[in-house]
Amino acid sequence: MIERSLVIVKPDGVERGLVGEILRRFENTGLKIVGMKMVWIDSKFAEEHYKAHKSKPFFRELVEFITEGPVVAFAVEGVHAVENARRLVGSTSPHEAAPGTIRGDFAHLSMAYASKKGLGGKNLIHASGSKKEADDEIKLWFKKGELHSYTTVHEKHVF
Ligand code: CMP
Repeated sequence: MIERSLVIVKPDGVERGLVGEILRRFENTGLKIVGMKMVWIDSKFAEEHYKAHKSKPFFRELVEFITEGPVVAFAVEGVHAVENARRLVGSTSPHEAAPGTIRGDFAHLSMAYASKKGLGGKNLIHASGSKKEADDEIKLWFKKGELHSYTTVHEKHVF
């Protein structure tokens, strides 16, 4: 039940100065940050990360958007980390994301609007969609030595 998940603060989140706020929300729940880096990925890497969306009509925009500036990627560990990270993040389309979630609190556009404008959906953040996706994404974004095992005070009270 202890899982790891990959979270990425996308270029809109970094440029809006939301990295600290977003990290705080994960840390507050007791999810443990086990790896973190700022990277400006290229199209080849973005295409690999989003390979499951290759056939989607918005694939090109997705790749353009995630490569338009640096992102902050971090791996979190905890009980049902994949599901818990997705709950904190909220629905893919910010206009459907509940208040209290990261997308619901800091964005409001719809994917329909983004598609109409020919833009990538600026939804601030990515979190792995399944355990398998999380394992694959963490392998893609982090080398073994960049992930760390340590004990947090939360483990006594939250895990
Ligand atoms: P993310 O969690 O990074 O995973 C896939 C991404 O595809 C998603 O966030 C959105 O940014 C993007 N996306 C999903 N649906 C659409 C859409 N209809 N138009 C544009 N982008 C989309």
